[in-house]
Amino acid sequence: MTDDVTTQDTVTKRLDEYRPFPFELETVHLDFRLDPKRTEVRARMAFIPKQPAASLHLDGEELELVSVAIDGRNLLRDEYRVSVTGLTIHAASLPEQPFTIETVVRIVPEANTALEGLYMSNGMYCTQCEAEGFRKITYYPDRPDVMAKFHVTIAGDAPVLLSNGDLVTQKPGYAEWSDPWPKPAYLFALVAGDLVAHSGTFTTMSGREVALNIWVRKGDEDRCDFALEALKRSMKWDEEVYGREYDLDIFNIVAVDDFNMGAMENKGLNIFNSKWVLASPETATDADYERIEGIIAHEYFHNWTGNRITCRDWFQLCLKEGLTVYRDQCFTRDTRLGPVKRIDDVIMLRARQFREDRGPLAHPPRPDHYKEINNFYTATVYEKGAEIVGMLRTLVGEEGYRAALDLYFERHDGQACTIEDWLKVFEDSSGRNLSQFKRWYTDAGTPVLRVSDTYHDGVYTLRFEQVTQPTPGQAQKPPRHIPITVGLLTPDGREHAPSQVLEMTEATQDFTFENLPQKPVASILRGFSAPVSLERNVAPDELAFLLAHDTDPFNRWEAGRQLAQDALVEMAQGKPAQPDYAVALGKLIADESAEPAFRALCLQLPSEDGIAQTLHDRGITPDPDAIHAAREALATGLAQTHQTALGDIYDAMAVPGPYSPDPRPAGQRALRLAAAGLLNRIDGGQRAQTLFESATNMTESLGALSLLVQAGIDDGALSAFRERWKADRLVMDKWFITQLAACPPEIAVERAEELSDDPLFTWKTPNRFRALMAGLSANHAGFHRKDGAGYRFYADWLIRLDPVNPQVAARMSTAFETWKRYDAERQALMRSELERISASDGLSRDLSEMTTRLLA
Ligand code: ARG
Ligand code: ZN
Repeated sequence: MTDDVTTQDTVTKRLDEYRPFPFELETVHLDFRLDPKRTEVRARMAFIPKQPAASLHLDGEELELVSVAIDGRNLLRDEYRVSVTGLTIHAASLPEQPFTIETVVRIVPEANTALEGLYMSNGMYCTQCEAEGFRKITYYPDRPDVMAKFHVTIAGDAPVLLSNGDLVTQKPGYAEWSDPWPKPAYLFALVAGDLVAHSGTFTTMSGREVALNIWVRKGDEDRCDFALEALKRSMKWDEEVYGREYDLDIFNIVAVDDFNMGAMENKGLNIFNSKWVLASPETATDADYERIEGIIAHEYFHNWTGNRITCRDWFQLCLKEGLTVYRDQCFTRDTRLGPVKRIDDVIMLRARQFREDRGPLAHPPRPDHYKEINNFYTATVYEKGAEIVGMLRTLVGEEGYRAALDLYFERHDGQACTIEDWLKVFEDSSGRNLSQFKRWYTDAGTPVLRVSDTYHDGVYTLRFEQVTQPTPGQAQKPPRHIPITVGLLTPDGREHAPSQVLEMTEATQDFTFENLPQKPVASILRGFSAPVSLERNVAPDELAFLLAHDTDPFNRWEAGRQLAQDALVEMAQGKPAQPDYAVALGKLIADESAEPAFRALCLQLPSEDGIAQTLHDRGITPDPDAIHAAREALATGLAQTHQTALGDIYDAMAVPGPYSPDPRPAGQRALRLAAAGLLNRIDGGQRAQTLFESATNMTESLGALSLLVQAGIDDGALSAFRERWKADRLVMDKWFITQLAACPPEIAVERAEELSDDPLFTWKTPNRFRALMAGLSANHAGFHRKDGAGYRFYADWLIRLDPVNPQVAARMSTAFETWKRYDAERQALMRSELERISASDGLSRDLSEMTTRLLA
């Protein structure tokens, strides 16, 4: 039914080409008649012309057009044009007065394997529209700055029929929903299926009662309670901390097994990957519980930061995502152990965002061009976006931040906004000029911050120098406005004065501190006050001092990390291990005043990928096998040096009684597993074996399994685990990923090959596909096997998945983003796999954009 075959696959979209939509769309009525093979969608849209328009273009892809009418008159074939990108109604057929367009289209949910638009998962209908999936449901101006009120009817053979907003009517096989809040199409959702609800209520601060439902497949209803409680806590937190109240009488969450991402904030009808909703002590780990709480909060918080105030265009994605990640991080900091959460977030930021920033995929938090927006749901947009919000808060202070956010909600409620609008509320409420600060949004790359210090006659001077390496398309990097939180400690470990925020704006800048009787020890970038890479020549004994005495928990941990990193860099080059780290760590292990969760983090060694990055940063070509050996040797050395203390910790941290996912017992389990992890190198896996057999929760069971696999003594354990859990898709995902990530690198590829033949490897399910591929790529030395077998296996699967699910294939291609770090042979092997992918027939726009950028 298309008039031409112009493909839009290669079109680059640019920020500076933004044009407002020339019509206003007030309301849309959608009528669905569901059928797996032939769903009919009738859309009625009331348009008001805003300016003389040449024509009206409605986005639409893979739709079968049945009819199109204006004000009740069916259009003739020469009044419109259908292309692969949509439906264009010629100017001559457009009334000058407000008019209504009615279209009827047919779609095939059961054939939709890309999981974008309306698709089926386990016999249930569901949708995913962000970013541009709505155009696969009906012809529509599918752009976030077109906000309309949706009225939806659903006719279908399913007991539960859901959409956004409030329920108007319901009878068997039919439901009518109306959403009073204007919204862009990407927030539309529909779910239909045989679902059961786990329900509750929440009374808002103005006394309105909201019905809460978590909808799941039968059999899963007893795994919803934690998510429901997390939702209530999130609703309360947003009222208390941001003054934001929920704005409908009902809030629904649905868990689906086939989902491309984590979750989606559709208005009043959040849709979640079931992995991030369902939890029971037997099947979910402590880390899962924390993540579920964080994602529930994230999607809920989007109701204000994303839905009530949305994005003008997709270039502004970090406006809603950066802010909402920042909000969910703060929520977790308030609900759990704040400093521990901050350290976790920084570990993640460095592992994913710094890595992205240093490679060919580097892009600004607000990109200015793209081919496929789904490729920009990245750590840079999300996590770096959140860091930028955190820096703004550091600059304007606690009260200034709340004032800015109040102004943001007051000024922009109901609007589709830009980063400029966002910064303006900070400028207007604080009186500050943020034009230099804005570079954090527009410039890519992680600034390197070099520090040196001097001390003369009571005056201490810190000299900072900032440099940002060029990134693709951005050669020049002018200096940024960097908030640097600094504390000064006396040689006996007291604070000279409270921490202060230094504002760096120049390429090189000195800050002086007067009247200091002795040279202080500086604690720099406390709380990781800016997403920069700090380079500082500090003597090991000063780091040991900070690890022992810094009052800032982040920097205390950071000092230990620095020592570990330095030791590993030496060892990976074949030099002997320095004892500094082991000695300093010994004190920390013995420090029972520190939170177990914090001590667990201090015992966790840097990842092999992280070590490779550090080596590369220091001009040394990383050798994955040497890195693996170095990390093993360091762990073994620590276990030998601290055998008794670690054994005591292992015994003392046993958590008696019934399982609770609360942060304290979770921290004890984490410390216990960290101790077992080191001791595993010298106790013949004996603790792991005992723990595996006696485990009463998934945290211990999976933790022990991972150690057994790592020690190469997994006989029986893996098959026993598989036998016990083979019917549980979420636990089986863990089985796939854990054994690949943990196994000795020399067997990783063979194991991945075997697992890909396992009948449980249902590769079209994103979670299962990701489990296998992410498991392999997490095994650094295994994935980077010298003969390229890891690369080949991985590329084969990307090529196979691409026609089925381009979004997931494209996302997983980031395993190759570090290819330029390695030796010439490995580079050549990775390059040729990327070239092989990019030469595949019919490659998707998603994966083709990724390979082009990766190879550039
Ligand atoms: N807005 C969602 C979230 O951050 C992510 C959805 C992204 N989906 C996609 N296909 N790009 O909560
Ligand atoms: Zn989000």
